[in-house]
Amino acid sequence: MAIFTSDGYACRRISGVLSLPFVIASLLVVSAVPADSAYYHDLEKNRQPCGDCHTLHYSEIGAQPAKTEAGGPFAQLLIRATTTKLCLFCHDGSDPKAPDVLGPVTMYGGSGDEHSGAGFFGNSGGTANDNGHDLGLNKSSVPFSSLTNVTLSCASCHDPHGTPNHRNVVTAPAGGAGVGVVMGTDVFREIAPGDPPSAGASITAYKESNEGYRADSSRWCTECHDDLKPHLAGTARTENHHLADVAINGATYPTDPAHWTGGTGSGFGSATGDGVEGVPRIRFQAPGAVDFASSKLPAPGNQVMCGSCHLAHGGKHKKGLVWPYADSGSPVDKDSGCQQCHNF
Ligand code: HEC
Ligand code: HEC
Ligand code: HEC
Ligand code: HEC
Ligand code: HEC
Ligand code: HEC
Repeated sequence: MAIFTSDGYACRRISGVLSLPFVIASLLVVSAVPADSAYYHDLEKNRQPCGDCHTLHYSEIGAQPAKTEAGGPFAQLLIRATTTKLCLFCHDGSDPKAPDVLGPVTMYGGSGDEHSGAGFFGNSGGTANDNGHDLGLNKSSVPFSSLTNVTLSCASCHDPHGTPNHRNVVTAPAGGAGVGVVMGTDVFREIAPGDPPSAGASITAYKESNEGYRADSSRWCTECHDDLKPHLAGTARTENHHLADVAINGATYPTDPAHWTGGTGSGFGSATGDGVEGVPRIRFQAPGAVDFASSKLPAPGNQVMCGSCHLAHGGKHKKGLVWPYADSGSPVDKDSGCQQCHNF
């Protein structure tokens, strides 16, 4: 599929020239979202100036404009050569208000959580990394996917101009109808980000435990990893992959729902990699959740989801896994996540 460009953006409405009708059209699209949704990079409420990311007259000035990278003008009139570079300008840990997504990440140390909801990338792009998604590298094939020749950028998954979705994720990362993951419906949070943002508020807002899940985040992953789509719905397991979006206490499942709900013993622990077997309770979906509190309640009917085992950006462990299941050697936590549900 050719929809992913080297900038990774799925829908390039214009290239290079910013014409007035297009600006108006894109503002109209943005203003179609509900007025009360509060997300950052929210242009409807003018929360982030266009000039943070675009420069309209790079070449006319005759010299490199302030705050831009040398060598422009760049595609889409960006102030950096690529979208990912632009995003990482703030999100690489150098701006304490912007959640750091580039490893090693220290901002969540002392927060009580080991990482953010998405974890982190191993590098700023162009280099393969076994521990999660690779940025800026062409992949001729994609695991569990019919997509070919994909180069990921931040904008493959996030709309820089904001969406009503949780974390501004794009509704249709692979084109088509897509699936929204809407804050307050599919995902809940306890504490909103700071407005204006502050270093302390960003730690609290973006740490993993500030989110609870109800539905659709696995379905969103399967927009790109479409080979895993059929594995979401059924109760009878006919596929060769671990299911997602199914309840831990489903009839005939080889699980131990009471052990999961109890939260002690095999698999459960206070920290990953502390030398004692067990990791903090992994993430789950609560299908009947109506708010943050109900989304965090351990129960036999909780569902396993992609995020139970994987971090969206990546992390410390192979395949972006939450615990060292696929790492070499025999760390004591190797089977811990599995044991929380299975308790063999
Ligand atoms: C957080 C950074 C950021 C801000 C703020 C921002 N943009 Fe963008 N904009 C981008 C990026 C990144 C792209 C290119 C996405 C890609 O293709 O990778 C883009 C692309 C565009 C495009 C090309 C069409 C499209 O949607 O791809 C237009 C038009 C545009 N922006 C207008 C605006 C206007 C007008 C504002 C202010 C109201 C604004 N942008 C604010 C980052 C930003
Ligand atoms: C000028 C600095 C800056 C740039 C450039 C920037 N960001 Fe941000 N971003 C921030 C800050 C600061 C926050 C935290 C906002 C808050 O907590 O209210 C944030 C928050 C976010 C969030 C979380 C939003 C939420 O409400 O959950 C996402 C996702 C994000 N940025 C993605 C991007 C992407 C993708 C790009 C590149 C297109 C980008 N950012 C460019 C500063 C920036
Ligand atoms: C493969 C898709 C994907 C790519 C590529 C991606 N993100 Fe994300 N990102 C997500 C998802 C999904 C979440 C929400 C995870 C959760 O908490 O459930 C997220 C969360 C975030 C957050 C909230 C803080 C956190 O760590 O949880 C920020 C900020 C962010 N992304 C910025 C970026 C930036 C900047 C880039 C490029 C360097 C990027 N993302 C690339 C999927 C992606
Ligand atoms: C925009 C399309 C896209 C979306 C959305 C997406 N992925 Fe991926 N994924 C890719 C591509 C491309 C690769 C192959 C290259 C790589 O390893 O980054 C990949 C690879 C992976 C890998 C292997 C990583 C490794 O280190 O070998 C895992 C695990 C993964 N994805 C899980 C997820 C999960 C979980 C989600 C949802 C949070 C998700 N993906 C959403 C495109 C996507
Ligand atoms: C119960 C845990 C678990 C769940 C749930 C889960 N995965 Fe995985 N995933 C793994 C493990 C473990 C691996 C490492 C390879 C293996 O053991 O099969 C993996 C590997 C992968 C890979 C890389 C395959 C490769 O060949 O490099 C992708 C992509 C992936 N998973 C995507 C997803 C997506 C998307 C979902 C949700 C629909 C999901 N996974 C749900 C545990 C899980
Ligand atoms: C959050 C709970 C949860 C976690 C964590 C979990 N599982 Fe499962 N597991 C389930 C559920 C629910 C089923 C039944 C659905 C299915 O068959 O996929 C299941 C089924 C299985 C099956 C049986 C498949 C069959 O053919 O009947 C195997 C094998 C398995 N899991 C292995 C693992 C391994 C290995 C891990 C760790 C990498 C793991 N699980 C982590 C909940 C979980």
